[in-house]
Amino acid sequence: MPLPDKTTAFLHNTEMGLGAWAWGDRLYWDYGRGYTDQDIEAGFRAALEAGINLVDTAEIYGSGRSERLLGQFLKTTQTPVRVATKYFPFPWRFGRPALLRALRHSLERTGLERVDLYQIHWPPVVGTVEGLAEALADAVQAGLARAVGVSNYDRNQVQRAYTILARRNVPLASNQVEYHLLNRQVEKSGLLARCQELGVRVIAYSPLAKGLLTGKYSTHNPPPSLRGRLFASILPRLQPLIDLLAEIGQAHGGRTPSQVALNWTVCKGTLPIPGAKNAAQAIENLGALGWRLTPEQMQALDEASDRVTGR
Ligand SMILES: NC(=O)c1ccc[n+]([C@@H]2O[C@H](COP(=O)([O-])OP(=O)(O)OC[C@H]3O[C@@H](n4cnc5c(N)ncnc54)[C@H](OP(=O)(O)O)[C@@H]3O)[C@@H](O)[C@H]2O)c1
Repeated sequence: MPLPDKTTAFLHNTEMGLGAWAWGDRLYWDYGRGYTDQDIEAGFRAALEAGINLVDTAEIYGSGRSERLLGQFLKTTQTPVRVATKYFPFPWRFGRPALLRALRHSLERTGLERVDLYQIHWPPVVGTVEGLAEALADAVQAGLARAVGVSNYDRNQVQRAYTILARRNVPLASNQVEYHLLNRQVEKSGLLARCQELGVRVIAYSPLAKGLLTGKYSTHNPPPSLRGRLFASILPRLQPLIDLLAEIGQAHGGRTPSQVALNWTVCKGTLPIPGAKNAAQAIENLGALGWRLTPEQMQALDEASDRVTGR
């Protein structure tokens, strides 16, 4: 694996970040029902106090509210925080200037002069991977982003973005992908290994499977709203995996299923960014760090994951 460049080294030295999708999102996360801005801020502060210094947001989260809340919180802390945000390549928004315009709006909302990591949220539908990679390099060269990455890119798209950026002397810092015990597609497709060979940090999003791996949801207590409908088919098969997470957690001095599930993503060499709606969740998630699952426990979890997902 190549040595990380100085602009991307922070990602390789970061074990876990904090995801900010739920900060302002009503459609998926029911923002305003069950948690408030005060709860979110308390989660942010608890994470910082425990040593987390990377927050992942996006221009589309809460239609900009997530970035604005982060900007407000940043003003009230002296702790240095690395900010990662994302550009959404809407089909009506293409061409290199569009990305720089969007990035400037993200900077206004967060109150920053530059972001630490600017990511393409999804592969483009209109326009090309190459065009967006050139625009990312423009963002670095304009001094608006320290490092750049992609998200939801497959192997071929990662390679193409990597090549274009390399020609501009800009490293591809990261690929943010869905990765957890209920979705190991990036591992099984070889994408994870290829990113690791290239020195591209794999950021694991939804590392708690959007709350399912916490163990608090079941067929009798499904998650609210949209999640309940989306996860109706997996819930009846989930319990054996939750039981194993709990059993392994006991062997590590009473770790919770969430902590074991997050530790699994760390042991796989990825950087998880769990979302937290309040301080209690943020603090619990931080208990995933500072210890390691054994190879036998990793194997048992892999096998249990295969049984639940049928792969
Ligand atoms: N690039 C992309 O396309 C993409 C897509 C998705 C996410 N992401 C990023 O990844 C981050 C994390 O993913 P995610 O928010 O989808 O899912 P996640 O981290 O798997 O789950 C977060 C949710 O689980 C519940 N939770 C978290 N910690 C808990 C704990 N200790 N105990 C009990 N419940 C807990 C909370 O919801 P409840 O309390 O309501 O259950 C929380 O909102 C996002 O915030 C975002 O930054 C990126």
